Amino acid sequence: MRTKVGIIGAGPAGLFLAHLLDRAGIDNVLLEARSRDYVEARVRAGVLEPGTVDVMTQLGLDGRMRRESMIDRVIDFRFEGRIMRVPLEATTGQHVTIYGQQEVVKDLIAARLARGGEIQFEAPVTGLEGIDGTNPVIRYKHAGADHALECDVIAGCDGFHGVCRPAIPQSAITIYDHEFPFAWFGIISRSPPIAEMTYANHSTGFALCSRRSPQVSRHYVQVASNEDIDKWSDAQFWDALHLRMGDTGINEIIEGEIVQRDIAQLRAFVAAPMRYGRLFLAGDAAHIVPPTGAKGLNLAVADVRVLSRALEDFFRSNSTERLDRYSDVALRRVWKAVRYSTYMTNLLHRYDTHSAFDRKIQVTELDYISSSEAMQKALAENYVGLPFEDQ
Ligand code: APR
Ligand code: PHB
Repeated sequence: MRTKVGIIGAGPAGLFLAHLLDRAGIDNVLLEARSRDYVEARVRAGVLEPGTVDVMTQLGLDGRMRRESMIDRVIDFRFEGRIMRVPLEATTGQHVTIYGQQEVVKDLIAARLARGGEIQFEAPVTGLEGIDGTNPVIRYKHAGADHALECDVIAGCDGFHGVCRPAIPQSAITIYDHEFPFAWFGIISRSPPIAEMTYANHSTGFALCSRRSPQVSRHYVQVASNEDIDKWSDAQFWDALHLRMGDTGINEIIEGEIVQRDIAQLRAFVAAPMRYGRLFLAGDAAHIVPPTGAKGLNLAVADVRVLSRALEDFFRSNSTERLDRYSDVALRRVWKAVRYSTYMTNLLHRYDTHSAFDRKIQVTELDYISSSEAMQKALAENYVGLPFEDQ
């Protein structure tokens, strides 16, 4: 089998890239290790930057999102018994869209199949060959048999635990890795959410009230990296959330049936460059940000936006100029998102190592933001997503 672009992974990066290439008439094959059900059920974040919404709109994939999403024009921060409202729209002219990543993934899969395209599910890639030449080959398994896919270019969209990044010789890649000393315990609850996306800094730890729909809440509390969340009763989760949100005895946060629990370690990770020969990495395969800035999905979309334009030039006019710039252009945005996500993480989390002085500096930063339009604008312009670099 032969194609122009072999895309590995049907997460947001791989799916958006496949659609962008389809629109440009560039032949591609999409290989995904897991089943369709598994990929569609995977719960992740749900904050879409306007740039991500634009790509969905350009691709004609925004129908259900327009009907079912919610708009956030402000975000709230709670600390020391106060509620600080940071306007997004009033400071930047833009808002974010609340729509679950798994809903985006469902829409992208359905649209690809409806347009007669294919996605090879349950097709784990086992190895890459010849990535430093001009005819790389992807080896994968499907329906009990071994297969080979010859390509002009491979797009490594296979997430943090995929096979593409490890296929690059160690001497050709630099890894920047930072593990934060805590995790998020997340739940999904069948209960109406509070009005605004709310981030809390409390002396006992961070908390976040988010949502998936007017009837479904998504909440998180900071826990230790090695926390055994099975030992937490539902009541303990709610107590921690009320306390950290300053909601004890007020009960603005409505408790409901908890239908999912998960734990995620916070880390920042960047692999550079995002290219080796004819292999191009995009999304979590190349970088991870802590979820505090809600940037993971948006960065994956930003990568493939740059990559698809570069591939269009390459296949149209054989020009490698944009492809050669891909890693530099993508990494400039990635590092700004890593910086912002790390800033938000440090601003809002409890560090066991913090002295009384460190804690004062942390809450003073929040107090300063509350009194400074300039600080609010800086926070907001990153939250809605920095402008795209004109390439
Ligand atoms: N062969 C084929 N597919 C693979 C392989 C493999 N060897 N290894 C991993 N995959 C698939 C995974 O099953 C997954 O569906 O690659 C896909 C990668 O998808 P994501 O992990 O969602 O990564 P990405 O598309 O970069 O999306 C980034 O998703 O992880 C979140 O927070 C992150 O929001 C961000 C976004
Ligand atoms: C979520 O809704 O899951 C969510 C929202 C905002 C974040 C992280 C996660 O910063």
